Amino acid sequence: MEGNKWFIPLIFALLTSSLFIISILNSTSNYPLFHQSVHASSILFVESKLHTATTTRPNSTIPRLAYLISGSIGDGERIKRTLKALYHPLNQYVLHLDLETSVKERNELVKYVKKEALFVEIGNVRVIERSNLITYRGPTMVSNTLHAAAVLVKEGGEWDWFINLSASDYPLVTQDDLLHCLRNIPRYLNFIEHTSDLDWKEEYRAKPIIIDPGLYSLNKSDVFFVEPKRSVPTAFKLFTGSAWMMLSRPFVEYLLSGWDSLPRTLLMYYTNFLSSPEGYFQTVVCNVQEFINTTVNHDLHFIAWDNPPKQHPHYLTTDDYREMVESNAPFARKFGRNEPVLDKIDSELLGRKPDGFVPGSWFGDTNTLTINVTNITSLLPGPGAERLTSLISGFLSDKDFDKKHCL
Ligand SMILES: *[C@@H]1O[C@H](CO)[C@@H](O)[C@H](O)[C@H]1NC(C)=O
Ligand SMILES: *[C@@H]1O[C@H](CO)[C@@H](O)[C@H](O)[C@H]1NC(C)=O
Ligand SMILES: *[C@@H]1O[C@H](CO)[C@@H](O)[C@H](O)[C@H]1NC(C)=O
Ligand SMILES: *[C@@H]1O[C@H](CO)[C@@H](O)[C@H](O)[C@H]1NC(C)=O
Ligand SMILES: *[C@@H]1O[C@H](CO)[C@@H](O)[C@H](O)[C@H]1NC(C)=O
Ligand SMILES: *[C@@H]1O[C@H](CO)[C@@H](O)[C@H](O)[C@H]1NC(C)=O
Repeated sequence: MEGNKWFIPLIFALLTSSLFIISILNSTSNYPLFHQSVHASSILFVESKLHTATTTRPNSTIPRLAYLISGSIGDGERIKRTLKALYHPLNQYVLHLDLETSVKERNELVKYVKKEALFVEIGNVRVIERSNLITYRGPTMVSNTLHAAAVLVKEGGEWDWFINLSASDYPLVTQDDLLHCLRNIPRYLNFIEHTSDLDWKEEYRAKPIIIDPGLYSLNKSDVFFVEPKRSVPTAFKLFTGSAWMMLSRPFVEYLLSGWDSLPRTLLMYYTNFLSSPEGYFQTVVCNVQEFINTTVNHDLHFIAWDNPPKQHPHYLTTDDYREMVESNAPFARKFGRNEPVLDKIDSELLGRKPDGFVPGSWFGDTNTLTINVTNITSLLPGPGAERLTSLISGFLSDKDFDKKHCL
């Protein structure tokens, strides 16, 4: 009778457990298990938790900017000038001269940064010594930008926004003006001009397939086209816009290590896309729910276009000066080497002496060569701050601002 010893307890256990299950099913709504599984999946799928990884610095701190300034053959001197016009001890700077420049010119820039006492003292200027080959209109332009962003995230300490400039860009406000204005706005905002209206770009940008030899060859040559063409993607929506932007730290970190891998997938797609800097960043930001509402549809640049529009900017001269200032934009492009209007900007907008730094709270004594960086905890905004504030508050106070993201 060994078997009977456990038979009765077993029946008893089965009865109580089935009663227990029935009582649960009765006591709750019709779909308790369904609700539970939805809840569970929102925990299991990491994508929905992206927002927890993207925090900004407290808004009581002075904002800090991370700049990439890049150039090519013969841009060594221009980069130095743009750097000095943009310099502030709170910011971070990465300089890049592409692989087409001679080793001599690149070494010259490295030596210059190592010799300038202020850069040595503050330690916030870096030169990318492993230069990239960059092909005009090719994806190597995007990979170079991402390379610099990665260097700045890894070595640049704390900063709030990333700004990509070239040696032919120049500021129209001082850094004290800029940091002062940015203090009053949320640090998650991305200033990125964008539209989903591809217009002629659908035919001439989205459909052709290009190869950028700069990805695999050390010899410089132009992008080339391969057949057949491809159709417009249906897995995500394409956006396009300006190649100039100011990106938030959370968005830059997402670009570099987004764990849903969307930035990488889109980068692969854009590898064969003509003029990818005018689309990659826009398409990423507008295809991620968490970032759509962070976009401000402006590139913070004054650019004067030739005809046909939005293809080639014309070189700015003193004839453009008034329009440039009245645009209230913090940056302008594009300027020729030693263009006289740059001297006018230096003296009238930046208060900068030839080869000097731009005066601000951290550096006021323009009569002495020794610079005293003791007071970088305060800013000294001037008229540029008023211009910029009116530009930015114009976007943010637009009553339709909330409805205008990624259209
Ligand atoms: C970054 O800067 C370079 C100029 O050096 C420019 O050609 C490129 O299109 C810019 N934009 C992006 C998004 O990489
Ligand atoms: C800073 O953050 C606090 C609390 O989150 C908020 O009340 C305040 O308005 C913010 N200030 C600015 C300038 O955004
Ligand atoms: C690449 O450049 C090097 C040096 O200029 C030259 O010797 C070589 O033939 C070039 N290769 C091709 C495939 O053009
Ligand atoms: C973005 O803003 C719109 C309008 O205010 C809102 O309906 C939507 O829920 C927001 N999206 C996210 C992901 O916060
Ligand atoms: C720099 O300024 C501080 C206070 O403003 C002063 O105490 C210090 O002596 C100055 N240093 C130099 C080298 O001028
Ligand atoms: C720093 O500069 C601000 C404004 O220019 C001034 O009010 C403050 O006293 C200065 N602090 C020091 C330590 O010099």
